Amino acid sequence: MTQSFPIETFQSESFQNQLGGYWMRVADQVQSLNRLVFLEWASSRIIAGWVPAAPELAWKCEMTHIMWHQMTFAEQLRSRKEELAGNSKVTIPSAALEALIQNISRADTFMAFMAGWFLEFNRSMMDAYERLQEALDPIFDAPTIELLQDIIPKKRKHNEWARLIVHEAVKQLELLQSVNRFRTYVRASLLYAGGVDEKQETFGGVAPLFPITEPLGPAPRKRAKPNNVKTTDEFIPPVEVADNLKIFMWHYMTEIQVVDPMCYVFFGLSDMPFEFYCDFSRHIWDETRHHQMGVRRLQQMGFDTSEFAIPYGDDAIHELENYYSELSMVGETCSFTRKKKSMETYYEKGDILSGMTAEIDIIDERSHVKFGKKWIPVMHKNRSGHDQSLDEIIREIMNRWIDQDQSGLGSLQGNPELAKLPEEEKRSIKHFAFCSKIEFKDLNFGKL
Ligand SMILES: [Fe+2]
Ligand SMILES: [Fe+2]
Repeated sequence: MTQSFPIETFQSESFQNQLGGYWMRVADQVQSLNRLVFLEWASSRIIAGWVPAAPELAWKCEMTHIMWHQMTFAEQLRSRKEELAGNSKVTIPSAALEALIQNISRADTFMAFMAGWFLEFNRSMMDAYERLQEALDPIFDAPTIELLQDIIPKKRKHNEWARLIVHEAVKQLELLQSVNRFRTYVRASLLYAGGVDEKQETFGGVAPLFPITEPLGPAPRKRAKPNNVKTTDEFIPPVEVADNLKIFMWHYMTEIQVVDPMCYVFFGLSDMPFEFYCDFSRHIWDETRHHQMGVRRLQQMGFDTSEFAIPYGDDAIHELENYYSELSMVGETCSFTRKKKSMETYYEKGDILSGMTAEIDIIDERSHVKFGKKWIPVMHKNRSGHDQSLDEIIREIMNRWIDQDQSGLGSLQGNPELAKLPEEEKRSIKHFAFCSKIEFKDLNFGKL
């Protein structure tokens, strides 16, 4: 019997189409990877938009962790796509998909969002990942397969986390109804679209009607008041820590207050490059870790942290770019001296765990300041249309603060003596000197 290799058949359109689900040509894989990059990136931003609506601080911490995971997946997939395609472009796969994402993110309650986004949308993403994995070749596509083997189990964990929260919440009838209504809509929308890969069987018919008259989010006008935590509008430390070094641990605990405003920025800025969201997701997640570090250390010291109020105003939507610039170029940059001094004192006095807490925070803050230096000029250029150097931008912030501007973080400063200086002297203050002037003056480094 003679054997022939049917090259004509192999090259024919019809055969290639049949291969589709089991072998994937490079061009198709590039398209799939681009789609997944877009979806992870979009999902990270949508989740950011819902962080301010989360009433539990622990949920905010986990949501920002997931946001960072998703930007990390997106970056890994993007770099594999770049290898395959020879270019780093990320494009929106289709206008229909973009509209779908926007519609299924607009829920009327936080729980409805959790159920729709994780239990329906994220599940559809896991299906898409698994179908991609099925179509890949263990030798040709091994580098992609390695990535998917890391990503899929993490996505499964994200869903399990959300499932337990929804499971607990729907004992309340109203929430159950809200969850069911929205979840049904999301599921029907995904079916209508053919899944997030827009490749699955659809049942045709008409697009499902958006079931909500007034969505709560993403980016709710007011952030949720946290459950089971005392809040205050002022920045007054509890008496137990006011005259000693433990105040630093309380400061870490309060860092959760910056997470909502940062998430509004993450969600709201749509003209920044992909890399910005990778850096910024890490920055936001770090701030929730700093909060957790502070809470843990205070609890280890025997305090009931639920008795310690966290500064927490209702209105967390500030001018977006200003908030980011002030946070990284003033708040973070100006905190190094006191934090370093606290770390050294902790180690000297034998409070090793507090010393380690301060040390990790300093390491993270170093990269946050680096991120700020990289991105603030880009944000300003996007907004104003012209180039402005980082130094000029910092000068503007300093002038605003020195002149006692009450907008943004300026309202938190307690240094009226700066405003009283003669004009010439005000303008001659250099950044590092400015930092030393707004440092907290009444810190007591002598007492643990
Ligand atoms: Fe921090
Ligand atoms: Fe920071």
